[in-house]
This record gives sequence, C-alpha cells and structure tokens, in this order.
Amino acid sequence: MKKVNVIFDTDPGIDDAMALLLLHALPSIDVRAISTVFGNASIEDCTRNALYICERFSLPYPVYKGAGVTFAGLAETEYPDFVHGADGLGDVGFPLPKRRAESQSSVTYMIETLRAASEPIEVLAVGRMTNVAEALKQAPDIAPLIQRIVIMGGAVEVPGNVTEWAEANIYGDPEAAAFIFDSGVPVLMVGLDATLQHRMKKTALMSLRDQLGDAGEFLWHIKQCYLKFYADKGIFDGFPIHDSTAALALVHPECFEIRRGRLVCETQGGPRGRTVLTASEAGPHAVAMAADSEKLTAIFEAAMLAKYGAGSQ
Ligand code: BDR
Ligand code: CA
Repeated sequence: MKKVNVIFDTDPGIDDAMALLLLHALPSIDVRAISTVFGNASIEDCTRNALYICERFSLPYPVYKGAGVTFAGLAETEYPDFVHGADGLGDVGFPLPKRRAESQSSVTYMIETLRAASEPIEVLAVGRMTNVAEALKQAPDIAPLIQRIVIMGGAVEVPGNVTEWAEANIYGDPEAAAFIFDSGVPVLMVGLDATLQHRMKKTALMSLRDQLGDAGEFLWHIKQCYLKFYADKGIFDGFPIHDSTAALALVHPECFEIRRGRLVCETQGGPRGRTVLTASEAGPHAVAMAADSEKLTAIFEAAMLAKYGAGSQ
C-alpha cells in the first residue's frame, strides 16, 4: 500500500496524544516526524509530552521542538489546564522521558525536509499553525512542495469554543492561520463543524482501556481530566476527539462532507480568530462540514485494536 507521508505538528495535549497513537496505528500513514508547538501547555511541556509518548510506546519518530510564541511574537499568559491539566497530559504524574528532541528546530526541519523530498509530504497541524506559517515565511519556495496542510481548527457554521466565533487552535494564533490561508498551499480544514459530530462515549473509552493494553490504560488515565471538563459542562453523552478526527480526515475523506471555497481568518476585533468560508467549487480550500461518526468510530477502533490490542505485533 502506498502510504501518505505526514509531518505531525502538535501541542500534546490530551486529544493530541490520542491522535499520535492513532496515526501510528493507521496503516495508510507514514509519520515522518513530530513537530511541537505551544498551545495546550508551554512548548517545553508539549515537547516533553511528545517525547514521553514516543518513549513509552516505542514510536520511532524524531521530535522537533517548535514555536513557544505566536507568529507575531506574542507569549501566552495562561494555558488551558482546566481541559488538559497543568502538564498538558491530565496531571497523571508521568516520569520524565529519557528521549531528547532533535537539535534542529521544527521550522528548519520542515524547510530542509520539504526541499529534499522525493515523495509528496502532507502536514497535519492539530495545534496553532505557528510552525508551518513560520516555515512558509522563511522559505516561500516550500509552498508548492507541501502537498497539503490538514488542520484541526476553525468553525464555520457552529460557534467557537473559545469565543463566540473562534476555535482554540485558530484563536491562539490567527495571524498564522491567515498567513497559511493566503499561502497558496492546499488546505483541508477540519474544524468544530465536523469534530463535534464525532464523539467518543465513556463506555467506548472503557472498552479501549480493557482491550488496548498499555495504550488503553494510558488513554484512560489521561482522559479523566477531559471527562471531568465535559461533565462539568453537563456533557455526558460523549466527548469530541478533535485531533483524531482530523487525522482520520487525512486518509478517510469519504467519512466527511467536504465543502470547497476560500477561507479567510479574521485577525481584528471581536471576531478575531473567526474562520470564514466563501463557498465555490473552484476554491483553493476544503472544509469538513460534517462527519459520519459511525464510520469513523469503526475505522478508529479497528486500527487501534490491530496495533495495540491483544495479539498485535
Ligand atoms: C483543539 O484545541 C486543543 O485544545 C485541542 O488539542 C484541539 O487541537 C480543539 O479546539
Ligand atoms: Ca491539539
């Protein structure tokens, strides 16, 4: 099977952690490297979390540390510890990993890898889009070398999850999103319109815990923080798995309703971070507007069971 080469740009992050285990399990994906970005926690914590997951599950991917401030150079003052815990992975108390990040920055890695690539490479960005925007700014010649950027972020017809308009990954760095939308690189945006339609039930998480060995235990423990966040909001019928949904969209577009058009990201005033889609068949961007949760759940569970379940390699 011809695999899709993917650079995974991420801010682990509870749902990022699940997406990383999923990417490793999807037979049609070849993860070339992990690039970290601040967002769910500081860049130091997100990078440590990526290294911890790679070490614990013997994931052979190099980890490149990325941005700790926004595209415009702004530092974060508060991280969403009420969703992801103070350490970004649900405050379970994991030991420090022995593995270290590569010496190159993620931006340099992306630029050099794309310039040298003999096969198409896609970027899956499930945090703020700071690293990709920075790479495109420093090296505009890589724009035609990126096959596609698939992002988890944005909201078109549904409200945001940080403000009335804005989703967290876009709100955290609207200038980066605007830069990417203007770059000419094909984009598939998998935002809240689709990710809120693909939820995981607590019972499904329990069943993963019981069937996936150490991966199941890990997911169960880190997700407790996430379950509490949704329970506090009165949501008990399933939690979204945003970043895993975007990972699935990369190789399973048949599970999504896709609308083409041109995306713009607002950077000013109250709607800062809002993603606006002007629909047109010939538009350079694609947006996942709806998701088939049943089909996605079946693909997710089959891949995870085959990789981490009893009798897996
Ligand atoms: C996105 O924001 C982060 O908290 C999650 O990891 C996800 O990528 C959801 O809005
Ligand atoms: Ca994320």
